[in-house]
Formats: sequence, structure tokens, C-alpha cells
Amino acid sequence: MPAVVVVGAQWGDEGKGKVVDLYARYADLIVRYAGGANAGHTLVVKGEKLVLHLLPSGILHEGKRCLIASGTVIDPAVLLEEIDAVEARGVNTHDRVFLADRAHVVLPLHPILDGIREQGTGALGTTRRGIGPCYEDKVARRGVRIGDLLRPETLRARVSALYHHHAPFLAAAGVTAPDLEQTLSTMLRMGERLAPRIVDGTPLVSEALTAKQNVLLEGAQGALLDVDHGTYPFVTSSHAAAGGASVGAGIGPTRIDSVVGIAKAYATRVGDGPFPTELFGDEGDALRTAGAEFGATTGRPRRCGFFDAVALRRAAQVSGLDLIAVTKLDVLSGLPRLRICVAYEVEGERRDAEPYDGLGDVTPIYEDLPGFEGDLSSARRVEDLPTNARRYLARLEELVGVAIGPVSVGADREATADLADPFDLQ
Ligand code: IMP
Repeated sequence: MPAVVVVGAQWGDEGKGKVVDLYARYADLIVRYAGGANAGHTLVVKGEKLVLHLLPSGILHEGKRCLIASGTVIDPAVLLEEIDAVEARGVNTHDRVFLADRAHVVLPLHPILDGIREQGTGALGTTRRGIGPCYEDKVARRGVRIGDLLRPETLRARVSALYHHHAPFLAAAGVTAPDLEQTLSTMLRMGERLAPRIVDGTPLVSEALTAKQNVLLEGAQGALLDVDHGTYPFVTSSHAAAGGASVGAGIGPTRIDSVVGIAKAYATRVGDGPFPTELFGDEGDALRTAGAEFGATTGRPRRCGFFDAVALRRAAQVSGLDLIAVTKLDVLSGLPRLRICVAYEVEGERRDAEPYDGLGDVTPIYEDLPGFEGDLSSARRVEDLPTNARRYLARLEELVGVAIGPVSVGADREATADLADPFDLQ
């Protein structure tokens, strides 16, 4: 009964969408376990681009079931739009896309709260999709759950209590609250459309595992944005690390077999927070342009920098990585020198490991490797890559202490070297 977690090993945007899409061919059920429409998972199939925010990235594989599990927060309007867009491409979603009744609902009020906070002094550079405020309401036990969309009286009681709770904050900010009646009628209408897909998530996943089906648990964001283990407070509000898969999907940790981390061949971060290897000026701009590093959800330019092995070691510990899939190696082609941060210097001392929290003055210690050139996109095995690219990968593997598996060498689904069945890892 193999369950495999795919988790971002940096600050999100590692290319999880592409890897989950590739792995989905080996899976029977694909489960999104955390986050919401803050995520942007980009898939490119035969040159055509599709950006998903909520639907699991296995959606394009007809016949595979997809679940948006209890640990997520779902904006029903975004989800319905996405379902319509996918259906318009001829992909059937009936009887295969499900929502857990325990997932929380992102209400029209939540993005408004997110926006107001982002204008204040505690701004974090969020996606303003209402994710933080929705998770806050969940933990404060005043949230609205997907199952409530099917119970008009419960929905009215919950939404009005929640709107009432936030009214003073909105008034103080001089912002008009969304209309309660309108919110209720929109939510009920969307609930009706979603009704056939709303299920109890735990039995769905658990029974699939008992029936020896392959379950792929898809993370959103990255381990270093995890609310407990990331660069707090510059984090998202969910358990983005692999541990979140067990809680988010509603299955015990004993049922998870292995964890694949996704890491870009360099590093990016969007939003505020520590980023020791960040590049500024022309070097940063060049990497941003070469890698098309603009947010899939917000369009914001991503901060770009060198590969940080200290951060990866931390992510490997936090998420218990068994294997790393490296993405966007092709973006580094043509650089005369490849830099890897191997340790930090903090107050004059070398540190090979960091708690990776509240980083103050940190100077990266770099190791340089010679660059490589040429178009890598036709490589299907790591042996097909230029020698210096292979050397770079071998050094990353050594520094992080986790084996490297698939290597993505272009945006398209086919441009991948050493793809192998992740359910055979154990
Ligand atoms: P929130 O998740 O919108 O609350 O944003 C909190 C932090 O997580 C911000 O720094 C965001 O830029 C970051 N973040 C959220 N989702 C993603 C993602 O999918 N990729 C990269 N960063 C993200």
C-alpha cells in the first residue's frame, strides 16, 4: 500500500506541478494535502501551459482520482473556475475530483482581511488569497468547512458569526464588509454545484491504500514555508512540510512509505523573509529572466539566488527526504561558474547547519564549480548531460546527503532525465 509524498524542499515554486504530473502516471489517487489557491502549479504539456491553484497536478491523467484533502483551504469560486477551465480542455472531472468535507472554506472576507494586513506594518508579502486569515479562523474554531456548504442553517450561523467577529477590524480599517446575504447565496449555489464531489476524505484515502492502490500526496509551497519549520514569521499558514501530508490527508504516518523532495537547481523565494544566497542587480535579473521566475499565482518577480545546501539539509531533515528531484537544471546552462552555498558564516564562525529561523547577519560560504553549456532538453538520462552538469548534480547530492532522482531539463513534460516510478522506492 504505497503512499508517496511529493514536497517542496525550498521556498515553494520548485516545480512540484511538473513532477506530480509525471508521477501521476504511476498513481491511482492524487491528494493535495495543504495550502490553498496561494499555490500555483504550472504544467506544460505539448507546449500548452496550464496553471493550477487547487486541483491536484494529476488532473490531466484521465481515470486517476484526485482529492483536495482536509488540510487544505478551498476558495470554491477559484475551484469551480479551475474545474471549468480543465473541462473546457476536454478533461473529464466527474467521478474523479473530490473535496474533503473537513477542508475549510475561503470566504470572500478572507482575501479582504489578508489585503488589509498586508498594508500594515506586519506585511509578509503574502499572495493575498486569504489563506492566512482562513487558517486563523480554522484554528480559532470559528471557520466554515466545505461540508457546511450543504447545510444552509449551519452555514448561515457560521458565516454570520464569523462576519460578526471580524466586523470591528474591518470598521477600524474603514473597509466595507462583504454583504452577508450575498455571501450566503453565492456559497449555497457553489455548494450545490460541488455537492457530488464532497466526501469524507479519510476513508477515501485509507480504503485506496488498503486496496493496494498507489497514492501520491502532493504538497504545496515548500518545507521552508512550513508554519512550524520554516523561516517564521515569513511562512505560509499550513504544514507545507511532508509531515503535513499525514494530518492533511487524514491518514496515519505509518501509512506513508517515502518522501520525494523537489528542489530547483538554484533558489528562489517570493515574498519577504531571509534568503542568504539572494542575488541582486544584473546577476539576479539574468537568472530571473532565464528561469522565467515570475509568480504563477501573483505574477510577482521572484527573488533569485544560488543553490543553498544548508537550507536543503534542513529541509531534508524536516521532511525526511528519501530522494530529491532537481528541476530547472537547463536554466543554469551558459553560466561560466556555478556557485553552491555549502555553509554559513555567522559572527565570524562557520556553521554547517542552521536552525534556519530568524537569521540575522549570515554570510554564505560558497564553493564554485565550472559551468556547462548547450541545450539539455533532449537528455533523458543523467548520463546524457554535459560532464560539468553531472558534476554539479553529484556535488549537490553529496552536500545534501540525499540521492538525486529525476532531473528536469525543460518545462515540457517530456524534458526529464531519469524518471522512475516513485512507488518502487521502498
Ligand atoms: P500566503 O501563503 O499567501 O499567506 O503567503 C505567505 C508566504 O508564503 C509569502 O511569502 C508568499 O509569497 C509565500 N507563498 C505562498 N504560496 C506560495 C507558493 O505557492 N509559492 C511560493 N511562495 C508562496
